[in-house]
Amino acid sequence: MKILVTGAAGFIGYHLCNNLSKNKNIELVGVDNFDNYYDVNIKKNRIKTLKKNKKFVFYKVDINNNLKISQIFKKYNFNIVIHLAAQAGVRYSISNPSKYIKSNINGFFNIIDVSRKFKVKHFLFASTSSVYGNSKKFPLKEDLNTDKPLSIYAATKKSNEVLAYAYSNIFKIPCTALRFFTVYGPFGRPDMALYLFTKKMINYESIELFNKGNHIRDFTYIDDIILSITKLIKKPPRGIVPYEVYNLASSKPRKLKDFLETIKIHLGITKFKIIKLKMQKGDVFKTHADTNKLINKIKYKPSIGIEIGIQEFIKWFKKYYKYD
Ligand SMILES: NC(=O)c1ccc[n+]([C@@H]2O[C@H](COP(=O)([O-])OP(=O)(O)OC[C@H]3O[C@@H](n4cnc5c(N)ncnc54)[C@H](O)[C@@H]3O)[C@@H](O)[C@H]2O)c1
Repeated sequence: MKILVTGAAGFIGYHLCNNLSKNKNIELVGVDNFDNYYDVNIKKNRIKTLKKNKKFVFYKVDINNNLKISQIFKKYNFNIVIHLAAQAGVRYSISNPSKYIKSNINGFFNIIDVSRKFKVKHFLFASTSSVYGNSKKFPLKEDLNTDKPLSIYAATKKSNEVLAYAYSNIFKIPCTALRFFTVYGPFGRPDMALYLFTKKMINYESIELFNKGNHIRDFTYIDDIILSITKLIKKPPRGIVPYEVYNLASSKPRKLKDFLETIKIHLGITKFKIIKLKMQKGDVFKTHADTNKLINKIKYKPSIGIEIGIQEFIKWFKKYYKYD
């Protein structure tokens, strides 16, 4: 089986490639442009780690580069494409909307269109819990209305789902939308809460907390996400419109302040300072996924809790930044 992972230098892309490259029957190619939204060294180190496995092939390329991307598709003739490359982050999309249009709209179109031309058997792509906007029907089910995204980031991801649906309908390319819910774990993103809080706490700096930490998030550990993706790869949608969307989540919502408290405990810190900020524009108050559709499909229930997940992250953080 030949698989392409876009965004291979990213947090989720790295872990997915790490898992897939252990499978002897998979020929794995990763692409990424090492975008500088956050520390590029982390991305380079992820790729360096992946390259220890000689079977892993990597190309530094922008997903908008039609010529190079087409050449890669021609060379490998992929059966499966897992499209994770994107400009992530809700807050950054307020100040930099054009980056989101470029990577998440134009880039997405390029990858799905080349996948269609090269007759890929299953196209899986990253969507987000943010598409649910301010929906209050908890737990959030895949068939809820998602017409009112609260941020530009969410709007681009919703657009991806809609475009993929049309591609499935017209060209019969089997497409699976993966709605990720706040993914965290080792080698995680420096712009996300767990990394930011840990870094500040360990350095005795004040922590900026939006909405007094009352946000509720369905925090999902990276290993649960990766296992779910590897199982979904083998389940291309069938039917007249071969398109499916799944929530990938632990379905265990927790308050951000509990998350913070758990980091404190695992760091062995007694006190930390908080700067309370108002609710950020574009942010949703609560996420909590219904994961029954996923569980029925793959016979696996993502359920690693934050107590274990945060501990694993802190182990990685201390080792990576040599804190011990
Ligand atoms: N981590 C989460 O909690 C979460 C939640 C919901 C959705 N997602 C989505 O999952 C996917 C992966 O997220 P992540 O957390 O690994 O983010 P990430 O930023 O670590 O990874 C994305 C990767 O895509 C690459 N990229 C961006 N623009 C590119 C372009 N034009 N050409 C080539 N490469 C490009 C970046 O360099 C980066 O390495 C993204 O689509 C993101 O929107 C993530």
